[in-house]
Amino acid sequence: MIGTGYVGLVTGTCLADSGNDVTCVDIDQEKIERLEHGDIPIYEPGLSELVVRNASAGRLKFTTKTAEAVRPAKLAFLAVGTPMSDDPADKGAADLKYVWSAVEGFAPHLAADAIVVVKSTVPPGTNAKVFARLKELTGRTCDVASNPEFLKEGAAINDFQYPDRVVIGVRTTEAQETLQELYRPFLRTDKPLLAMTPESAELTKYVANALLSTKISFINEMANLCERLGGDINDVRRGIGHDRRIGFAFLFPGVGYGGSCFPKDVRALAHLARHVGIDPLLLDSVDEVNNRQKHVLTHKIRDHFGGHLAGKRFAVWGLSFKPKTDDVREAPALTLIDHLLESGAKVAVHDPEAMDNVKAEYGEKLVYAKTPLDVLEGADALAINTEWSEFRNPDFAEMKRRMRSPVIFDGRNLYDPTHIRDHGFTYYSIGRSPVVG
Ligand SMILES: NC(=O)c1ccc[n+]([C@@H]2O[C@H](COP(=O)([O-])OP(=O)(O)OC[C@H]3O[C@@H](n4cnc5c(N)ncnc54)[C@H](O)[C@@H]3O)[C@@H](O)[C@H]2O)c1
Repeated sequence: MIGTGYVGLVTGTCLADSGNDVTCVDIDQEKIERLEHGDIPIYEPGLSELVVRNASAGRLKFTTKTAEAVRPAKLAFLAVGTPMSDDPADKGAADLKYVWSAVEGFAPHLAADAIVVVKSTVPPGTNAKVFARLKELTGRTCDVASNPEFLKEGAAINDFQYPDRVVIGVRTTEAQETLQELYRPFLRTDKPLLAMTPESAELTKYVANALLSTKISFINEMANLCERLGGDINDVRRGIGHDRRIGFAFLFPGVGYGGSCFPKDVRALAHLARHVGIDPLLLDSVDEVNNRQKHVLTHKIRDHFGGHLAGKRFAVWGLSFKPKTDDVREAPALTLIDHLLESGAKVAVHDPEAMDNVKAEYGEKLVYAKTPLDVLEGADALAINTEWSEFRNPDFAEMKRRMRSPVIFDGRNLYDPTHIRDHGFTYYSIGRSPVVG
């Protein structure tokens, strides 16, 4: 497993757990040292136990030495990051620098019959380029398959072990059969393994993320409409969801999507579209709606306080881009925090798992509170960004006692407005009228 991040570590661990011998490689020495001591560098429910169990059984190893991992491998998975390019001339494109440096690193050590499996999210045509590059580097034909990953951070183990489907892009029967055998233990409940060309497999990942992001931006735009037109997005959501053509999944309004995948994948697909002469009207709008939505709490806060935020104290619940992860990449909470700090406000934060990652970025600019109640001490308002389950049923009376003024800006619609008004709070949420306590 080349690349031991969210995807590589989960994939490697789950494959070891089904009886395979797996070696996870990474160029990040500190990460590997921690893993060798059973210390998991990311928060992902259930992962720690699984890593420790499989490492003790000798099926899961960690190294920084690519040669050591690749030489005996029948399958070499590429799970390195494919972030958004920071080259302004290549706006939105996926940056494949880690892919190419990994390919160059492992090519000399690849066994003659090894199959390279590209798990990273990469633009269509990358598999073919990896195939060509390996031919240049090794002087022979290497089998290269694509196997995009659909796991969700926060539920990654379950998603990997019980996938809705496995997609593979293959050009040989051998690669197809080998991957079929590898995934058989995870597909016992008749979930399909879908074999297609590498290009279709590569595209499938982008199209899936583009559609999921579209649903989020769609419901957010409708929520903003509901607010202005006097509707309640929760009622509207129920009203449409019972239509089987629409359904309920992934139609929750909020403060926008974040994370390491949706934003960059939507932009990468739009970039690819432009590259082939298609104007990606919808994809650009999905991205734009999301960028605006990340400011939705900021606007509500400014309006409430008449634009005077300097010296005010804000408490923030939830920093990760979604619950059950410590990942804060492109998290909407950070957009809000930046704005509050720029406006001269003081910001105290609490998150069950993501505090260290935020502290690494913001240092002493923020106050870090150990509990959701501690963060409220003297606060002029609370802003909620992430729907961690521990925020769903708080002690409102105690919250009110600790806050300077009982105002909540809820970016995830966690509470019933009437109920919260009865507790004496002024409450702003998404796609619903504010209530004044
Ligand atoms: N995170 C997710 O939820 C998710 C889900 C599906 C797909 N993906 C895709 O999977 C890929 C990996 O994502 P991630 O979130 O795991 O990234 P990540 O940043 O968490 O991990 C990538 C790892 O690769 C390592 N690396 C870089 N170059 C290397 C090299 N030459 N040799 C060995 N290791 C190297 C890095 O040090 C890092 O630890 C991306 O393409 C992403 O789009 C991610």
